[in-house]
Amino acid sequence: MTTVGIIGAGHIGSTLARGLVDRGYAVVISNSRGPETLADLVADLGPRATAATAQDAAERGEWAIVTVPLKALEHVPVAPLAGKIVLDTNNYYWERDGRIAELDEKRATTSGLLQRHLPGSTVVKAFNHIRSDEILTDGSPAGTPGRRALATASDSPLGVAFVTALYDEFGFDTVNVGALADSWRVERDRPAYVVRQDAAELEANLARAER
Ligand SMILES: NC(=O)c1ccc[n+]([C@@H]2O[C@H](COP(=O)([O-])OP(=O)(O)OC[C@H]3O[C@@H](n4cnc5c(N)ncnc54)[C@H](OP(=O)(O)O)[C@@H]3O)[C@@H](O)[C@H]2O)c1
Repeated sequence: MTTVGIIGAGHIGSTLARGLVDRGYAVVISNSRGPETLADLVADLGPRATAATAQDAAERGEWAIVTVPLKALEHVPVAPLAGKIVLDTNNYYWERDGRIAELDEKRATTSGLLQRHLPGSTVVKAFNHIRSDEILTDGSPAGTPGRRALATASDSPLGVAFVTALYDEFGFDTVNVGALADSWRVERDRPAYVVRQDAAELEANLARAER
């Protein structure tokens, strides 16, 4: 059984934990307040779920998901994630995260910031432009007409291939945006952000995004 480390146990973290457990994965999930505050969640998720510190979740995960407010990225453990694939769901909400000049000045991308924080990891953008309550309800089998598509991006083709397979497990087609430097195309307020779209529509929305 593959164990996934999840850093962040809010809307997205808890939803992905449920989806992963239902698909046969084990999850080690963490938040900022400590594992004892996740007792109800892991009880609900069942025996394949464990609550831990972020450090432990990062260590025990064979791959990991970082799904915290962007302002908390600097607290994500670095060493235990080295050599691992790390999915990045994060978006920039300056109202929540405070102003980040590099993003305001369009010199960086949100996923690029995480990759810089985790230089030894393979960071892959994933699940950032779908609402948490749609992740487990909007998927459909491969080949379904109009199947919803989600974007990914990574500096590593292995990362893109990994998320493509995972999206398919969750019932979504994949559109590859390219490198993390190009991932602004699917960030907040761009045409592809948090709308239901199939692969052709997503490709068109990515193409008409303006920096
Ligand atoms: N909500 C959506 O539909 C949605 C969709 C796509 C992408 N996103 C993005 O995905 C990210 C997560 O969103 P969310 O809605 O799931 O947020 P959320 O509900 O506010 O949950 C955030 C989680 O991060 C945890 N956290 C904060 N600092 C941490 C730290 N230093 N170490 C470990 N965990 C920490 C919080 O723990 P505590 O509660 O203990 O502080 C909480 O469990 C955000 O960047 C968001 O913009 C959200």
